[in-house]
Amino acid sequence: MSRFLKYPDLDAARALDAVDPLASMRARFALPEGVTYLDGNSLGALPRTTAARLKEVVEREWGRDLIGSWNSADWIGAARRVGGRIAPLIGAEANEVLVTDSTSVNLYKLLVAAVKASPGRTTILSEPGNFPTDLYVADGAAWSVGAQVRTLPVEDIVAAIDDDVAVVMLTHVHYKTSAMLDMAGITAAAQAKGALVLWDLSHSVGAVPIDLNGCNADLAVGCGYKYLNGGPGAPAFLYVAERHQARLRSPLSGWMGHAAPFAFDDGYAPATDIARFLCGTPPILGLAALEEGVKLFEEVAFDALVAKSRSLSSLFVTLMDELCGEYGFTLASPRDPAARGSHVSYGHPEAYAICQALIARAVVGDFRAPDILRLGFTPLYTSHEEVWRAVDTLAAVMRERAWDRAEYRERAAVT
Ligand SMILES: Cc1ncc(COP(=O)(O)O)c(C=O)c1O
Repeated sequence: MSRFLKYPDLDAARALDAVDPLASMRARFALPEGVTYLDGNSLGALPRTTAARLKEVVEREWGRDLIGSWNSADWIGAARRVGGRIAPLIGAEANEVLVTDSTSVNLYKLLVAAVKASPGRTTILSEPGNFPTDLYVADGAAWSVGAQVRTLPVEDIVAAIDDDVAVVMLTHVHYKTSAMLDMAGITAAAQAKGALVLWDLSHSVGAVPIDLNGCNADLAVGCGYKYLNGGPGAPAFLYVAERHQARLRSPLSGWMGHAAPFAFDDGYAPATDIARFLCGTPPILGLAALEEGVKLFEEVAFDALVAKSRSLSSLFVTLMDELCGEYGFTLASPRDPAARGSHVSYGHPEAYAICQALIARAVVGDFRAPDILRLGFTPLYTSHEEVWRAVDTLAAVMRERAWDRAEYRERAAVT
């Protein structure tokens, strides 16, 4: 029994784990003993097969078979192959998804392509407080093509779309608040006014239901290193609806996006399909690691994954309700689990120091400036018992004022 928490008790959390259909997936990850890892929304955990697969790619495919592996190990097809594996997680067809570059670079390629494909329209519309790279890249993309970026609170976006808006760029699940936007509704409303929509799925993919084609989506991007467990700096993915592929062109016209890269022509002729959004030589080691992460999703029923995500985060919110009043936490995420992603955030003036004190007690979450404590619940490997333990640890940290130390206020380079 906890020293601090009253309800629901540890047994109730364990009872939920006892009937968890995904419980066996935990053993597929090499998580350190005794660590409660609640940051898989930032950097996913290491799948057990990844190290062996990378060893094989390095020693056999690279070390022994050398350059022949571009053909024999299908290195050349990896961007499409791994994209095809991500496609079912986002409601896309395999020929609409590529794994390539970073999310930032993919945002750039698609934003420029979208503006260029929208004659007479020169505005990229987004929301303030969107993930910084999205806004920074939009700034650079607008600068490249003589467009401008406009930001408005998300609830005002649809009404503000006029005939100057080329593309609306939004993040489906907000990185700080976890609020999930109405993809179908916003997409349809924007398209009715002649704009394209670009969705950033970084905090959604592998955690919430996404149906890009069901929403008639235009464009999307997302990270490989969060819920997809591709490892630090894993390549990202992009989605371009098939109907747009022939008319949208990437501004980064590298040889891998050419219709015939090995013809070595001087002139650029983009591939006619999704491959036109490739640029340079694909990062094979990163792709191999990401493929191991993505393959794990093929073993689970997505409905069960979503149900578990909601169950974990709801347990967390229920337990946190007990601490909020006493210790000054404010829920910064939607209370309805269907309206949020798989992370939950709380505002607290001492959020940074509290986060460090939690990490010192082996409960790993993260901090987002200026005052957000953010905890991610990864349905593939987080248990209800861990959720309970995390809140129990937080209760102890607050009661003992364990966060109130100078060393916990010193900001590290990465928060
Ligand atoms: C919504 C969103 N977009 C993009 C990124 C990161 O993009 P990149 O991988 O290019 O650094 C993040 C990282 O947390 C994110 O949350």
